Amino acid sequence: MRVGVPREIKVDEYRVGLTPASVREYVAHGHDVIVEQGAGLGIGAGDDIYRSAGAAIVDTAAEIFATADMVVKVKEPQPTEWSQLREDQILFTYLHLAPDTAQTKGLLASGCTAIAYETVTDAHGGLPLLAPMSEVAGRLAIEAAGAALRKSADGMGKLIGGVPGVAPSRIAVIGGGVVGTHAARMAAGLGADIVILDRSLPRLRVLDEMFLGRVRTRYATLEAIEEEVIGADVVIGAVLVPGASAPKLVTRAMLKSMRPGAVLVDVAIDQGGCFETSHPTTHADPTYQVDGIVHYCVANMPGAVPVTSSQGLNNATLPFGLMLANKGFAAVLENPHLRNGLNVHRGRITNKAVAESLGLEFAPVESGLAA
Ligand SMILES: NC(=O)c1ccc[n+]([C@@H]2O[C@H](COP(=O)([O-])OP(=O)(O)OC[C@H]3O[C@@H](n4cnc5c(N)ncnc54)[C@H](O)[C@@H]3O)[C@@H](O)[C@H]2O)c1
Repeated sequence: MRVGVPREIKVDEYRVGLTPASVREYVAHGHDVIVEQGAGLGIGAGDDIYRSAGAAIVDTAAEIFATADMVVKVKEPQPTEWSQLREDQILFTYLHLAPDTAQTKGLLASGCTAIAYETVTDAHGGLPLLAPMSEVAGRLAIEAAGAALRKSADGMGKLIGGVPGVAPSRIAVIGGGVVGTHAARMAAGLGADIVILDRSLPRLRVLDEMFLGRVRTRYATLEAIEEEVIGADVVIGAVLVPGASAPKLVTRAMLKSMRPGAVLVDVAIDQGGCFETSHPTTHADPTYQVDGIVHYCVANMPGAVPVTSSQGLNNATLPFGLMLANKGFAAVLENPHLRNGLNVHRGRITNKAVAESLGLEFAPVESGLAA
């Protein structure tokens, strides 16, 4: 198969669909890989590095869309990209179609086969191609909190880990899933005093075993959240209710009882945020204050570290991408997890949740309509 990697054109996107290491794997499996010139510059991988890995470099994205059997990207295609997709082509990338009618119509009109990273599943009911970005965001949340706690950033002027004889910062993590666990691990490494709150008792049991007493766990009642938030120097918002907006767990009224210069990091901002006073910010201007409390609410946190993010993403996408390259559409029919990733095929929506949220017709691939 001929696999193509265009340069990402969405604003502030520096990740790349295939790293040089992934290119080498595809080539080793007998595939041709074409990469748009400069596609890897955001991760420090120039064209020569891609050539050494076995790719051919092409001048324009147009050559990729015109000749590749499968296009591997990171972000959803932009209008100039979806208009170039072809009926016999596989698109493998993040799509997030549910709130995006325009893109969905563009993909339907192209006739392409679009597989969305975010709906590919694993045997444990997880979303393996979303998890690496949650890992990045969770770890980054503590770095962001450490920077925001500094006096120069309007924080209270406290070091996360303290020093011998001086207490460390108190960090409350609300939501103990992938983001929350990685935030807690990072904070534990820095020596913080940590509590994780979650509504899932089984999850709290796993966390209790995992951290062996290094981290406190609490069931996330309204009372427990209020107590922990008021006593915290840093609160990390990391809840997810699948398919729904994040619940507002920290109210504006609570801010008044917090210490001035405390920091709220709302990682769940991409689902609307779990603090009442959150609104999305950017890497260029990541924080603002409400009632003396610093808020960090960057919606695309992994974009800050494209080298780590691209490698983490590629580690997760590679096995699925190779299955698609080796078998073509048959891989989707054979593998239930890839099939869950299939969102659009030959002008039909093949993912029920996407079809329902857009009010469009759903065509299950099993029905034969879409196969
Ligand atoms: N800002 C970014 O750049 C970025 C990057 C990656 C992920 N995210 C977001 O971070 C959030 C968390 O993602 P994740 O991968 O950790 O999800 P996850 O499903 O692994 O974990 C979510 C956890 O929240 C818990 N939860 C749900 N409702 C709760 C409540 N009311 N109180 C306490 N806990 C509750 C769940 O039990 C679960 O353990 C999501 O909204 C995700 O989209 C944002």
